[in-house]
Amino acid sequence: MSAILLDGKKTAEEIREWVQTEVSAMIRAGCRVPRLTAIRVGDDPASEVYVRNKKNACEQVGIESEVRILPERTSQEELLHHIDSLNADESVHGILVQLPLPPQLKPEVIQERVSPLKDVDGFHPDNLGRLFSGNPRVVPCTPAGIMVLLEKYGIPLEGRRAAVIGRSNIVGKPVSILLLGKNATVTLCHSKTRDLREVVREAEIVVAAVGKPNTVTGEMVRKDSVIIDVGMNRLEGGLVGDVDFPKAKEKAAYITPVPGGVGPMTVAMLLHNTLNAAKRLQQIDP
Ligand SMILES: NC(=O)c1ccc[n+]([C@@H]2O[C@H](COP(=O)([O-])OP(=O)(O)OC[C@H]3O[C@@H](n4cnc5c(N)ncnc54)[C@H](OP(=O)(O)O)[C@@H]3O)[C@@H](O)[C@H]2O)c1
Repeated sequence: MSAILLDGKKTAEEIREWVQTEVSAMIRAGCRVPRLTAIRVGDDPASEVYVRNKKNACEQVGIESEVRILPERTSQEELLHHIDSLNADESVHGILVQLPLPPQLKPEVIQERVSPLKDVDGFHPDNLGRLFSGNPRVVPCTPAGIMVLLEKYGIPLEGRRAAVIGRSNIVGKPVSILLLGKNATVTLCHSKTRDLREVVREAEIVVAAVGKPNTVTGEMVRKDSVIIDVGMNRLEGGLVGDVDFPKAKEKAAYITPVPGGVGPMTVAMLLHNTLNAAKRLQQIDP
């Protein structure tokens, strides 16, 4: 039997519609229109596409957006200066610095400089600390999107075994904490994990966030499990995830497609986080 597809495209559309309604209500109430500024440094083609998509998504729901494009050679001091001016600008509610950054720029220093109240990526240490202590303010977009998708499809998490593959600060670590918060029993795997195959075969929930096609083979997938494929790997034949989708879908109960699974959820949660930042900064109840 073939798995049920966790439709990120459709779920993201529902979130966007909700954000649009909320933005309209804020405007009617005389509040400032939520505004996001994205900073892109250099000419990374993938970053160019991501930032353009985020800007378009903002426009569709009535969030104002601006992209600041800085040259590849931008110094840390110059970038921090841009962030300081955006932190001080009352018309800006969300600040996003697109990763990856050129090597002279230290992401952890940059992320810490963004005001935690305007940090719509949820990467500021204050926001990560709150997440880890179980009192989140802003949840990083991809992990937040995964949790919304699991909830939307009514997938129980309590007491279930989850394997998260990949331990980045952007995906693997925060999604592990969120699953733990829902009382799943989480194993966080990485490149040094021994017997990944065995860990995955035991798992009822698998989140693959590695960036390598076929990290999860069909043979590793447990029958009736839930497979969340975060990977985005551009091959000659198109975009694929980290999971062998055709084989995995024959064994799993639920699976995210690539594209159309986690990707659209990430963008939708950015809109959600920007809306909430605008509400918080204007003292409106979320
Ligand atoms: N769909 C979306 O919206 C979205 C959002 C963000 C990222 N992504 C995609 O998700 C993937 C992961 O992104 P990321 O930023 O988290 O990547 P990352 O920072 O490169 O981290 C990759 C992780 O995978 C682990 N890993 C590498 N090879 C492995 C192996 N053979 N077995 C087990 N673990 C292995 C690494 O382990 P070590 O720590 O030991 O090196 C690392 O923890 C990428 O394809 C990215 O494009 C998608």
